Amino acid sequence: MIRLAFPAIDEREVQSVAAVLNTAQLVSGRLVERFEAELAERTGRKYGIAVSNGTTALALAMEALGVYGKQVIVPALTWPSPAHAAVLAGARPLLVDIDEKEWNIDPKDVAAAVTDETALIVAIDQFGVPARHEELAQAAAVRGTTPLFLEDAACALGSALGGRPCGSFGVVSIISFHPRKVITTGEGGMCLTDDGDLAERIRQSRNHGLDHKGRFVVARGNARMTEIQAAIGLAQLAKLEKIVARRREIAAHYRARLSDLPLSFQSAPDSAQRNEQSFGCVLHFGGESTRNRFIASARSMGVELGPLSHHLGVLPSLAPFGPHRPTPISAHVAQRGFALPIHSRLSDEEVETVIRTVRRCIEEVVSDDN
Ligand SMILES: Cc1ncc(COP(=O)(O)O)c(C=O)c1O
Repeated sequence: MIRLAFPAIDEREVQSVAAVLNTAQLVSGRLVERFEAELAERTGRKYGIAVSNGTTALALAMEALGVYGKQVIVPALTWPSPAHAAVLAGARPLLVDIDEKEWNIDPKDVAAAVTDETALIVAIDQFGVPARHEELAQAAAVRGTTPLFLEDAACALGSALGGRPCGSFGVVSIISFHPRKVITTGEGGMCLTDDGDLAERIRQSRNHGLDHKGRFVVARGNARMTEIQAAIGLAQLAKLEKIVARRREIAAHYRARLSDLPLSFQSAPDSAQRNEQSFGCVLHFGGESTRNRFIASARSMGVELGPLSHHLGVLPSLAPFGPHRPTPISAHVAQRGFALPIHSRLSDEEVETVIRTVRRCIEEVVSDDN
Protein backbone atom coordinates (compact mmCIF):
# COMPACT_ATOMS: atom_id res chain seq x y z
CA MET A 1 0.00 0.00 0.00
CA ILE A 2 1.30 3.47 -0.85
CA ARG A 3 0.63 5.26 2.42
CA LEU A 4 -1.20 8.58 2.72
CA ALA A 5 1.34 9.81 5.28
CA PHE A 6 4.67 8.56 6.58
CA PRO A 7 6.86 10.41 9.10
CA ALA A 8 10.38 11.26 7.92
CA ILE A 9 12.06 9.30 10.72
CA ASP A 10 15.56 7.85 10.28
CA GLU A 11 18.59 6.82 12.33
CA ARG A 12 19.01 10.39 13.67
CA GLU A 13 15.74 10.27 15.61
CA VAL A 14 16.48 6.73 16.82
CA GLN A 15 19.88 7.80 18.17
CA SER A 16 18.54 11.00 19.72
CA VAL A 17 15.89 9.03 21.60
CA ALA A 18 18.43 6.41 22.71
CA ALA A 19 20.63 9.21 24.06
CA VAL A 20 17.75 10.57 26.17
CA LEU A 21 16.83 7.12 27.45
CA ASN A 22 20.38 6.73 28.72
CA THR A 23 20.00 9.78 30.97
CA ALA A 24 17.93 10.36 34.10
CA GLN A 25 16.20 13.40 32.58
CA LEU A 26 13.08 12.24 30.75
CA VAL A 27 10.93 15.33 31.45
CA SER A 28 11.39 19.07 32.06
CA GLY A 29 14.90 19.23 30.71
CA ARG A 30 17.23 20.97 28.33
CA LEU A 31 15.86 19.43 25.12
CA VAL A 32 12.33 20.77 25.57
CA GLU A 33 13.84 24.23 26.19
CA ARG A 34 16.01 23.93 23.07
CA PHE A 35 13.10 22.75 20.94
CA GLU A 36 11.03 25.72 22.16
CA ALA A 37 13.83 28.17 21.44
CA GLU A 38 14.54 26.78 17.95
CA LEU A 39 10.91 26.82 16.92
CA ALA A 40 10.43 30.35 18.28
CA GLU A 41 13.48 31.48 16.32
CA ARG A 42 12.30 29.90 13.07
CA THR A 43 8.90 31.54 13.35
CA GLY A 44 10.24 34.89 14.57
CA ARG A 45 8.53 34.66 17.96
CA LYS A 46 9.84 35.52 21.42
CA TYR A 47 8.44 32.50 23.26
CA GLY A 48 7.69 28.87 22.47
CA ILE A 49 5.84 26.72 25.00
CA ALA A 50 5.91 23.00 24.18
CA VAL A 51 2.90 20.91 25.21
CA SER A 52 1.52 17.40 24.80
CA ASN A 53 -0.39 17.92 21.52
CA GLY A 54 -1.89 20.56 19.24
CA THR A 55 -5.40 20.39 20.71
CA THR A 56 -4.01 21.07 24.18
CA ALA A 57 -1.96 23.96 22.75
CA LEU A 58 -5.22 25.46 21.42
CA ALA A 59 -7.13 24.96 24.68
CA LEU A 60 -4.34 26.38 26.88
CA ALA A 61 -3.86 29.36 24.55
CA MET A 62 -7.59 30.11 24.54
CA GLU A 63 -7.80 29.83 28.30
CA ALA A 64 -4.84 32.19 28.68
CA LEU A 65 -6.53 34.64 26.30
CA GLY A 66 -9.53 34.77 28.63
CA VAL A 67 -12.28 33.45 26.35
CA TYR A 68 -14.27 31.89 29.21
CA GLY A 69 -18.00 32.63 28.71
CA LYS A 70 -17.39 34.36 25.37
CA GLN A 71 -17.72 33.57 21.67
CA VAL A 72 -14.91 32.11 19.55
CA ILE A 73 -15.26 32.08 15.74
CA VAL A 74 -13.96 28.92 14.07
CA PRO A 75 -14.03 27.83 10.40
CA ALA A 76 -16.44 24.95 9.76
CA LEU A 77 -14.07 22.80 7.68
CA THR A 78 -11.35 21.30 9.85
CA TRP A 79 -10.44 18.63 12.34
CA PRO A 80 -12.72 19.45 15.34
CA SER A 81 -9.85 20.55 17.63
CA PRO A 82 -10.24 24.36 17.39
CA ALA A 83 -13.97 24.18 18.18
CA HIS A 84 -13.53 21.55 20.89
CA ALA A 85 -10.69 23.56 22.42
CA ALA A 86 -13.01 26.59 22.63
CA VAL A 87 -15.49 24.43 24.55
CA LEU A 88 -12.71 23.12 26.83
CA ALA A 89 -11.74 26.74 27.56
CA GLY A 90 -15.35 27.52 28.54
CA ALA A 91 -16.22 29.50 25.39
CA ARG A 92 -19.00 29.16 22.79
CA PRO A 93 -17.70 28.22 19.33
CA LEU A 94 -19.47 29.84 16.36
CA LEU A 95 -18.87 28.15 13.01
CA VAL A 96 -18.38 30.25 9.87
CA ASP A 97 -17.80 29.18 6.29
CA ILE A 98 -14.62 28.82 4.26
CA ASP A 99 -13.55 30.39 0.99
CA GLU A 100 -14.43 28.30 -2.07
CA LYS A 101 -10.93 28.28 -3.55
CA GLU A 102 -8.53 28.43 -0.61
CA TRP A 103 -10.61 26.40 1.88
CA ASN A 104 -9.58 28.80 4.68
CA ILE A 105 -11.90 30.92 6.84
CA ASP A 106 -13.69 33.40 4.59
CA PRO A 107 -13.04 37.06 5.54
CA LYS A 108 -16.49 38.02 4.17
CA ASP A 109 -18.19 35.50 6.43
CA VAL A 110 -16.11 36.69 9.37
CA ALA A 111 -17.25 40.28 8.71
CA ALA A 112 -20.87 39.08 8.67
CA ALA A 113 -20.50 36.94 11.80
CA VAL A 114 -18.47 39.10 14.17
CA THR A 115 -20.35 40.80 17.02
CA ASP A 116 -19.47 42.52 20.30
CA GLU A 117 -19.63 39.04 21.83
CA THR A 118 -16.71 37.81 19.73
CA ALA A 119 -13.58 37.48 21.85
CA LEU A 120 -11.41 35.47 19.48
CA ILE A 121 -11.16 34.35 15.86
CA VAL A 122 -9.29 31.17 14.97
CA ALA A 123 -7.54 31.56 11.62
CA ILE A 124 -6.40 28.13 10.44
CA ASP A 125 -3.64 27.81 7.83
CA GLN A 126 -5.51 24.81 6.49
CA PHE A 127 -3.41 21.99 5.03
CA GLY A 128 -0.44 24.38 5.14
CA VAL A 129 -2.04 27.14 3.02
CA PRO A 130 -1.74 30.44 4.94
CA ALA A 131 -5.02 32.14 5.83
CA ARG A 132 -5.38 35.75 4.58
CA HIS A 133 -4.37 37.13 7.96
CA GLU A 134 -4.38 40.84 7.08
CA GLU A 135 -7.72 40.72 5.30
CA LEU A 136 -9.16 38.83 8.24
CA ALA A 137 -8.01 41.49 10.70
CA GLN A 138 -9.65 44.19 8.54
CA ALA A 139 -12.84 42.13 8.17
CA ALA A 140 -13.04 41.56 11.93
CA ALA A 141 -12.75 45.28 12.67
CA VAL A 142 -16.04 46.12 10.85
CA ARG A 143 -17.96 46.77 14.04
CA GLY A 144 -15.30 48.92 15.60
CA THR A 145 -14.35 46.17 18.04
CA THR A 146 -11.12 44.25 17.58
CA PRO A 147 -11.31 40.58 18.47
CA LEU A 148 -8.02 38.77 18.99
CA PHE A 149 -6.65 36.28 16.48
CA LEU A 150 -5.31 32.87 17.29
CA GLU A 151 -3.40 31.36 14.35
CA ASP A 152 -3.95 27.62 14.13
CA ALA A 153 -0.80 26.72 12.23
CA ALA A 154 -1.12 23.06 13.32
CA CYS A 155 -0.44 22.00 9.71
CA ALA A 156 1.64 24.97 8.57
CA LEU A 157 5.18 24.77 9.90
CA GLY A 158 7.43 25.67 6.94
CA SER A 159 4.75 27.74 5.15
CA ALA A 160 4.91 31.52 4.79
CA LEU A 161 2.83 34.46 3.56
CA GLY A 162 4.60 37.42 1.98
CA GLY A 163 7.88 36.01 3.33
CA ARG A 164 6.54 35.93 6.89
CA PRO A 165 6.49 32.45 8.47
CA CYS A 166 3.27 30.76 9.51
CA GLY A 167 3.32 30.58 13.28
CA SER A 168 3.99 34.34 13.47
CA PHE A 169 0.52 35.74 12.74
CA GLY A 170 -1.62 35.25 15.86
CA VAL A 171 -1.40 36.87 19.28
CA VAL A 172 -0.78 33.20 19.96
CA SER A 173 -0.07 30.71 17.16
CA ILE A 174 -0.02 26.96 17.62
CA ILE A 175 1.73 24.09 15.84
CA SER A 176 0.96 20.36 15.98
CA PHE A 177 3.53 17.56 15.77
CA HIS A 178 1.06 14.75 15.09
CA PRO A 179 2.53 12.18 12.65
CA ARG A 180 0.39 13.54 9.76
CA LYS A 181 2.16 16.92 10.06
CA VAL A 182 5.37 17.81 8.19
CA ILE A 183 7.48 17.12 11.27
CA THR A 184 6.43 14.99 14.21
CA THR A 185 7.22 14.19 17.82
CA GLY A 186 4.71 11.29 17.92
CA GLU A 187 2.21 13.51 19.70
CA GLY A 188 3.11 17.09 20.54
CA GLY A 189 2.25 20.75 20.18
CA MET A 190 3.68 24.23 20.67
CA CYS A 191 2.25 27.65 21.52
CA LEU A 192 4.16 30.61 20.06
CA THR A 193 3.74 34.21 21.20
CA ASP A 194 5.56 37.50 21.76
CA ASP A 195 3.59 38.29 24.92
CA GLY A 196 5.54 37.37 28.05
CA ASP A 197 2.48 37.36 30.35
CA LEU A 198 0.55 35.05 28.06
CA ALA A 199 3.58 32.77 27.76
CA GLU A 200 3.83 32.59 31.56
CA ARG A 201 0.11 31.77 31.95
CA ILE A 202 0.36 28.98 29.35
CA ARG A 203 3.52 27.61 31.04
CA GLN A 204 1.69 27.52 34.39
CA SER A 205 -1.33 25.77 32.90
CA ARG A 206 0.75 23.05 31.27
CA ASN A 207 2.52 22.28 34.56
CA HIS A 208 -0.04 21.79 37.35
CA GLY A 209 -0.54 25.55 37.80
CA LEU A 210 3.00 26.11 39.11
CA ASP A 211 4.42 29.61 38.67
CA HIS A 212 8.10 30.43 38.14
CA LYS A 213 8.57 30.75 41.92
CA GLY A 214 7.35 27.17 42.43
CA ARG A 215 3.93 28.07 43.89
CA PHE A 216 0.71 26.36 42.79
CA VAL A 217 -1.21 29.48 41.82
CA VAL A 218 -4.01 27.89 39.75
CA ALA A 219 -5.50 24.38 39.78
CA ARG A 220 -4.39 22.81 36.50
CA GLY A 221 -3.30 19.49 35.04
CA ASN A 222 -0.21 18.20 33.30
CA ALA A 223 0.24 18.95 29.59
CA ARG A 224 4.03 18.78 29.36
CA MET A 225 6.09 17.53 26.43
CA THR A 226 8.71 14.91 27.34
CA GLU A 227 12.44 15.07 26.61
CA ILE A 228 11.97 12.04 24.35
CA GLN A 229 9.48 13.96 22.21
CA ALA A 230 11.71 17.05 22.13
CA ALA A 231 14.70 14.94 21.05
CA ILE A 232 12.66 13.65 18.10
CA GLY A 233 11.43 17.17 17.37
CA LEU A 234 14.94 18.65 17.25
CA ALA A 235 16.12 15.93 14.86
CA GLN A 236 13.04 16.53 12.71
CA LEU A 237 13.42 20.31 12.73
CA ALA A 238 16.92 19.97 11.29
CA LYS A 239 15.35 18.28 8.23
CA LEU A 240 12.37 20.61 7.77
CA GLU A 241 13.62 22.34 4.59
CA LYS A 242 14.45 19.02 2.92
CA ILE A 243 11.10 17.51 3.88
CA VAL A 244 9.16 20.52 2.56
CA ALA A 245 11.22 20.65 -0.67
CA ARG A 246 10.34 17.01 -1.49
CA ARG A 247 6.67 17.63 -0.68
CA ARG A 248 6.68 20.62 -3.05
CA GLU A 249 8.11 18.48 -5.87
CA ILE A 250 5.42 15.86 -5.39
CA ALA A 251 2.61 18.45 -5.20
CA ALA A 252 3.87 20.09 -8.40
CA HIS A 253 3.69 16.71 -10.19
CA TYR A 254 0.16 16.09 -8.97
CA ARG A 255 -0.99 19.55 -10.07
CA ALA A 256 0.60 19.23 -13.51
CA ARG A 257 -0.54 15.68 -14.21
CA LEU A 258 -4.07 15.74 -12.79
CA SER A 259 -5.16 19.19 -13.95
CA ASP A 260 -7.31 17.87 -16.84
CA LEU A 261 -9.51 15.78 -14.51
CA PRO A 262 -12.88 16.89 -13.03
CA LEU A 263 -11.20 17.88 -9.74
CA SER A 264 -10.47 21.12 -7.85
CA PHE A 265 -7.27 21.66 -5.90
CA GLN A 266 -6.72 24.08 -3.01
CA SER A 267 -5.56 27.53 -4.20
CA ALA A 268 -3.32 29.81 -2.14
CA PRO A 269 -2.76 33.59 -1.94
CA ASP A 270 -0.19 34.81 -4.53
CA SER A 271 2.45 35.55 -1.91
CA ALA A 272 2.06 32.19 -0.14
CA GLN A 273 4.79 29.58 0.11
CA ARG A 274 3.06 26.39 1.14
CA ASN A 275 4.55 23.39 2.91
CA GLU A 276 2.18 20.96 1.11
CA GLN A 277 1.17 19.27 4.37
CA SER A 278 -1.87 17.68 2.66
CA PHE A 279 -2.72 17.40 -1.02
CA GLY A 280 -6.48 17.81 -1.21
CA CYS A 281 -8.78 17.34 -4.21
CA VAL A 282 -12.53 17.92 -4.52
CA LEU A 283 -14.55 15.88 -7.04
CA HIS A 284 -16.67 17.93 -9.45
CA PHE A 285 -19.44 15.33 -9.41
CA GLY A 286 -21.33 12.93 -7.14
CA GLY A 287 -21.65 13.21 -3.36
CA GLU A 288 -20.21 11.58 -0.29
CA SER A 289 -20.99 8.03 -1.43
CA THR A 290 -19.29 8.57 -4.81
CA ARG A 291 -16.25 10.00 -3.00
CA ASN A 292 -16.21 7.01 -0.64
CA ARG A 293 -16.39 4.55 -3.56
CA PHE A 294 -13.55 6.42 -5.21
CA ILE A 295 -11.37 6.14 -2.08
CA ALA A 296 -12.22 2.44 -1.65
CA SER A 297 -11.41 1.72 -5.27
CA ALA A 298 -7.98 3.42 -5.04
CA ARG A 299 -7.24 1.51 -1.83
CA SER A 300 -8.11 -1.78 -3.53
CA MET A 301 -5.42 -0.87 -6.09
CA GLY A 302 -2.82 -0.25 -3.35
CA VAL A 303 -3.05 3.55 -3.02
CA GLU A 304 -4.22 4.90 0.31
CA LEU A 305 -6.47 7.92 -0.26
CA GLY A 306 -8.37 9.43 2.68
CA PRO A 307 -11.34 11.77 3.21
CA LEU A 308 -10.03 15.35 3.22
CA SER A 309 -11.56 16.86 6.37
CA HIS A 310 -14.68 17.31 8.48
CA HIS A 311 -17.72 19.57 8.28
CA LEU A 312 -18.10 20.70 11.89
CA GLY A 313 -21.66 21.90 11.22
CA VAL A 314 -22.94 18.31 11.43
CA LEU A 315 -21.04 17.17 14.54
CA PRO A 316 -23.26 16.22 17.52
CA SER A 317 -20.50 17.56 19.81
CA LEU A 318 -21.07 21.11 18.55
CA ALA A 319 -24.85 21.05 18.12
CA PRO A 320 -25.47 22.48 21.65
CA PHE A 321 -23.55 25.64 20.67
CA GLY A 322 -25.66 26.40 17.59
CA PRO A 323 -27.37 27.76 15.69
CA HIS A 324 -24.25 28.30 13.59
CA ARG A 325 -24.06 30.23 10.35
CA PRO A 326 -24.90 28.40 7.11
CA THR A 327 -21.71 26.69 5.96
CA PRO A 328 -22.51 25.16 2.52
CA ILE A 329 -18.97 25.40 1.14
CA SER A 330 -17.53 23.52 4.12
CA ALA A 331 -20.22 20.85 3.64
CA HIS A 332 -19.43 20.55 -0.06
CA VAL A 333 -15.65 20.26 0.41
CA ALA A 334 -16.06 17.75 3.26
CA GLN A 335 -18.42 15.53 1.23
CA ARG A 336 -16.46 15.51 -2.03
CA GLY A 337 -12.92 16.03 -0.76
CA PHE A 338 -10.14 13.49 -0.55
CA ALA A 339 -6.40 13.59 0.13
CA LEU A 340 -3.62 12.01 -1.93
CA PRO A 341 -0.51 10.41 -0.44
CA ILE A 342 2.13 13.04 0.21
CA HIS A 343 5.28 12.57 2.27
CA SER A 344 9.00 12.79 1.77
CA ARG A 345 9.48 9.01 1.51
CA LEU A 346 7.42 8.71 -1.69
CA SER A 347 9.59 7.72 -4.67
CA ASP A 348 9.04 9.17 -8.17
CA GLU A 349 7.70 5.76 -9.21
CA GLU A 350 5.15 5.75 -6.40
CA VAL A 351 4.05 9.28 -7.35
CA GLU A 352 3.45 7.99 -10.90
CA THR A 353 1.46 5.05 -9.50
CA VAL A 354 -0.72 7.45 -7.49
CA ILE A 355 -1.36 9.56 -10.60
CA ARG A 356 -2.22 6.50 -12.75
CA THR A 357 -4.51 5.12 -10.05
CA VAL A 358 -6.38 8.39 -9.54
CA ARG A 359 -6.95 8.65 -13.31
CA ARG A 360 -8.26 5.07 -13.47
CA CYS A 361 -10.54 5.48 -10.46
CA ILE A 362 -12.00 8.71 -11.84
CA GLU A 363 -12.86 6.90 -15.09
CA GLU A 364 -14.40 4.08 -13.07
CA VAL A 365 -16.66 6.26 -10.88
CA VAL A 366 -17.66 8.47 -13.82
CA SER A 367 -18.77 5.43 -15.84
CA ASP A 368 -20.54 3.90 -12.77
CA ASP A 369 -22.42 7.17 -12.21
CA ASN A 370 -23.56 7.32 -15.86
C1 LIG B 1 -6.16 22.54 12.00
C2 LIG B 1 -5.82 21.63 13.16
N1 LIG B 1 -5.77 22.14 14.40
C3 LIG B 1 -5.46 21.37 15.46
C4 LIG B 1 -5.18 20.03 15.32
C5 LIG B 1 -4.89 19.22 16.54
O1 LIG B 1 -3.60 18.75 16.63
P1 LIG B 1 -3.25 17.44 17.51
O2 LIG B 1 -3.63 16.25 16.68
O3 LIG B 1 -1.78 17.56 17.72
O4 LIG B 1 -4.03 17.50 18.77
C6 LIG B 1 -5.22 19.46 14.06
C7 LIG B 1 -4.94 18.03 13.91
O5 LIG B 1 -5.04 17.42 12.89
C8 LIG B 1 -5.56 20.27 12.93
O6 LIG B 1 -5.62 19.77 11.70
